Amino acid sequence: MQIDILTLFPQMFEGPLTTGIFKRAVNRELVQLNTHNIRDWTHDKHHTVDDYPYGGGAGMVLKPEPIFQAVEALKPGGLQQQGADIMPIILLTPQGRLFSQQIAFELSQYSRLVLICGHYEGVDERVIEYLATDEISIGDYVLSGGELPAMVVADAVVRLIPGVLGSEASAVDDSYATDLLEYPQYTRPPEYRGWAVPEVLLSGNHGEVARWRREQAVLRTLRRRPELLNKASLSSEEKYLLSKLKTLTE
Ligand code: ADE
Repeated sequence: MQIDILTLFPQMFEGPLTTGIFKRAVNRELVQLNTHNIRDWTHDKHHTVDDYPYGGGAGMVLKPEPIFQAVEALKPGGLQQQGADIMPIILLTPQGRLFSQQIAFELSQYSRLVLICGHYEGVDERVIEYLATDEISIGDYVLSGGELPAMVVADAVVRLIPGVLGSEASAVDDSYATDLLEYPQYTRPPEYRGWAVPEVLLSGNHGEVARWRREQAVLRTLRRRPELLNKASLSSEEKYLLSKLKTLTE
């Protein structure tokens, strides 16, 4: 997969993109990550990327021309998109659809992604209407730019690409991948400051361990994110247990 990130602050990506999961994915040649400075696509003396909003108001708005040109340079054949060539052009913005594991999975199926990091008060609406094919928000809070959201999206997507993670199983077991939160994890020592690891995990009984983990995941989800249980696939035994627990706590 090739990910192109358009930003006013490419230096923000230097550490994150050359460490951990990204480093591994790039080294294994599973992912190619490029950052592009939107400012490089300005043609005036001051390299202007923003301007006052028409109609007045506070703040500045990112101009359309450098963003259009930066994206067009990534697809010299033109931006009309077809078949296997489809390359989502995603604007990171608090106005976008709320990012989720499901969207990460969707995006991991493409061979190319373009992420545009917005800044200032906003981006000229023509970028949204005629260039971006998708708008994504990472949550209902306002950050000072789309750089951190772009890293969040890229991280969540890249770790789903086969071969990127150490073991294929670790992405499958993740919270949200199964619609349940993850069960508690322990490692050595078996007792730390008097706090013991649950006995069942030391038992070597794989069936018992799997049952305990599943039960813990369901209980934790019930306590912390009960709304997730509505779409989780539960066994009839689990459903019965949950209905009993719910009546007990009501
Ligand atoms: N830019 C600023 N805040 C953002 C958010 N919450 N999600 C995506 N892009 C943003």
